[in-house]
Amino acid sequence: MQVVRGIPELHALREKLPEPIGFVPTMGALHAGHAALVQRARSECASVVASIFVNPMQFGPQEDFTRYPRAFERDRELLETHGVDVVFTPEQSAMYPQKPTVKIDPGELGSYFEGASRPGHFAGVALVVLKLFHLVRPQQAFFGQKDAQQLAIIRRMVRDLSMPIEVVSCATVREPDGVALSSRNAYLSPAERRAAVNLSAALQRIAHALAAGQTDIRAVIASASETLAPLRCDYLGVVEPDAFVPLAAAPPRTSLLAVGAAFAGDTRLIDNVAVQTP
Ligand code: PAF
Repeated sequence: MQVVRGIPELHALREKLPEPIGFVPTMGALHAGHAALVQRARSECASVVASIFVNPMQFGPQEDFTRYPRAFERDRELLETHGVDVVFTPEQSAMYPQKPTVKIDPGELGSYFEGASRPGHFAGVALVVLKLFHLVRPQQAFFGQKDAQQLAIIRRMVRDLSMPIEVVSCATVREPDGVALSSRNAYLSPAERRAAVNLSAALQRIAHALAAGQTDIRAVIASASETLAPLRCDYLGVVEPDAFVPLAAAPPRTSLLAVGAAFAGDTRLIDNVAVQTP
């Protein structure tokens, strides 16, 4: 496995990699969810490139950019164990030699839920993913279903900009109690970690109610939100996975996502559960 920090070095290596190239962008602090993305890329592509870059453009001024967990040696080992060929881990000055003035506006897809709670977040994600796609030029790129709104925005960006990349989504990896793996789970105290399960439980409750034929989403959410305490609710909602607009009524025979975000202490957790309405 080659570790590359500079863009010219990445360009030179990229030319020699057998295609198709699978790409797994990450911010590091890797866990079994990332390992699953790499394994999928390894099983489908001739070469696998991963990136580790904590992207300042996707963090708000009050968010956790400076304390975001960084664990390069452990990450390197995980990526090597899972057969990554190249790890691209650029300095901030290489990715952003100047403060970028060009903005990627994800439009309505980025305006609700995460987009409303974290203004500017998706513009920062779209910008860095677009840059990484230009640098790595993969044929396939692998993203976790846990960040479902991010996934929808990246799919749409790729389609709108006619990029020749297949966006592959991989199922959320969960702890045995149902908590979705996340690099931010490292912030949780033991009590917060125990409470974290309430988010996936609330989303499961919404999914079960919709699967059982309930259509009044407001009522379903009101009842499920009782499950969240002691977590502090940021939002619970139900969306079509490509649109991410809050629904008031569940349409019949439709694939939907129950989405949610909640705080365990200062740590913000997000998750989603898929449901098919009858
Ligand atoms: O999902 C993430 O880890 C990040 O948002 C991504 C896609 C690597 C962009 O920084």
